[in-house]
Amino acid sequence: MSRPPTQHQDLLAWVGQVCALCQPDHVVWCDGSEEEDRRLRQVMVESGSALRLNEQKRPNCLLVRSDPRDVARVEKRTFICSRTKEEAGPTNNWEDPAEMKAKMSGLYAGCMRRRTMYIIPFSMGPVGSKIARIGVEITDSPYVVVNMRIMTRIGQRVLEVLGPDGSYVKCLHSVGRPLADGDKDVPWPCNPENTCVAHFPEERLIMSYGSGYGGNALLGKKCLALRIASAIGRDEGWMAEHMLILGLETPDGKKSYVTAAFPSACGKTNFAMLVPPAALKDYKVTTVGDDIAWIQPGPDGTPRAINPEAGWFGVAPGTSYRTNPNAMESCRKDSIFTNVALTDDGDVWWEGMTEEPPAHLISWLGEDWTPGCGRPSSHPNARFTAPARNCPCIDPEWENPHGVPIDAIIFGGRRMNDIPLVFETRDWNHGTFVGATLASEQTAAAEGKVGALRRDPMAMLPFCGYHMGDYFRHWLEMGETFGAKKPRIFHVNWFRKDGNGKFFWPGFGENLRVLAWIVARCRGEAAGRPSALGTMPDYCDLPWEGLDYPEKRFGALMSEDSATLAEQMHSNDEFFANLGGKCPPELKAEEAKTLEQLA
Ligand code: OXD
Ligand code: MN
Repeated sequence: MSRPPTQHQDLLAWVGQVCALCQPDHVVWCDGSEEEDRRLRQVMVESGSALRLNEQKRPNCLLVRSDPRDVARVEKRTFICSRTKEEAGPTNNWEDPAEMKAKMSGLYAGCMRRRTMYIIPFSMGPVGSKIARIGVEITDSPYVVVNMRIMTRIGQRVLEVLGPDGSYVKCLHSVGRPLADGDKDVPWPCNPENTCVAHFPEERLIMSYGSGYGGNALLGKKCLALRIASAIGRDEGWMAEHMLILGLETPDGKKSYVTAAFPSACGKTNFAMLVPPAALKDYKVTTVGDDIAWIQPGPDGTPRAINPEAGWFGVAPGTSYRTNPNAMESCRKDSIFTNVALTDDGDVWWEGMTEEPPAHLISWLGEDWTPGCGRPSSHPNARFTAPARNCPCIDPEWENPHGVPIDAIIFGGRRMNDIPLVFETRDWNHGTFVGATLASEQTAAAEGKVGALRRDPMAMLPFCGYHMGDYFRHWLEMGETFGAKKPRIFHVNWFRKDGNGKFFWPGFGENLRVLAWIVARCRGEAAGRPSALGTMPDYCDLPWEGLDYPEKRFGALMSEDSATLAEQMHSNDEFFANLGGKCPPELKAEEAKTLEQLA
């Protein structure tokens, strides 16, 4: 073992226990340096687990192909092991914490044999910020280390802030593939039969085994910054949310920040990095975060948000210079690509990157690929891991340790039918109801049937670390904490289709028109008309420069079919009933109010 660079007794004791249990050949404390990063990338290239991309086209970039059985988060094997099942609630898998620990300890026994164990101190949020939290991930995957270095702030500077007795979240991870003497390693070791991701919210502990992919393995992201942090936020009076954070500067020079919660792979990264249409280039959108927001009341009650992450773990397919040039620029260098295709000149490609696919590729499965072959070249959940600092529209305040002030919260889902482009909720409690009843057609980021409508309250269904009913109660209470400073809450739907099955709304940069109305509403500068769902813009309330969008079509896009909406309201009943006595009566009251309006 290299000499421990810390005097933190609890951390040293835990590292000692993990070493004894997992039995690695070597132990490395990660210092976060460039030299360390270079060395680990080299290790991955030499072992055959990564390919270095063309240095001219993608400087300092790697391509990694996962085991085809390990390609996404594993929600069925994700557990919230709170003291009681009741505390985890009906939307989480639960197991008794003692039993789960015993089971995981069995799996971890000897699991790092003939491997190196890396200890990664990391900060979620700017190092030293009062809002930030420290975690320490122990892993046997160099892929995890190089990804964590992009997605979080890692290394010695974090141990310095932690000091001799600071608090931290313990994150233990193993790919679950020990080697015996003489065994040759595989490019992507994993153990899909025994994959398990367990959270112990009371102890602030995460144990993950068997998967090397994304949120299963980069434990700062979904595990710490959402599941564990949501439980900490409930205890301490703040919010850990599955939300992007963006800034909008309007042509008058005023700046506002909003957060937005869309279920996984609903274009959050695209919205966070929106490029205004040419005719509205006096509006400027800047990005603070694309996935997670931690929101705390500032000294005067103003909600202030930080992005706890330092990079984008973006879905690659569909990302292009047309749909998201800022994401494309973010991954031009210093990035890691997972499960995308390799071009003949050592660059990457994925479905949707260019209109014309290259004539030949090596697919994410390592096979020859040609345009007519009938198979996708990249996995639908293929990802790029890119440093946020590479992003051309990164907000100048993105690392402000006090966060940025939030004026609006936007909920959105992928809904083909019924739900209009945008409405403002009546007030915080109604907004909480709208967030609580959020639903979206499913995509490939999680397991399940693509296209099925899935309820995803606040886009937190797979990420809330405690009982969903208590979470709704916490939301209602946060409204009181923020008081007069509470953000306004809106709902958007970019995905409504017309009678011919065509999207009503062009989306992407044109979403600025909706964002401009939202921000103007927050500033008291925009009109709206009351409707059953809330307040809606009339045609004349949105800026239309540069877009020939017929008023009649806008009318259809904004229309509300009372009977269908009322039916949908009633379908909430089962969901709320499932939460037992924990569903706050305030939400039922909001439903009743909406039904009254629809009648
Ligand atoms: C993500 C997700 O990867 O939400 O961000 O699944
Ligand atoms: Mn996400």
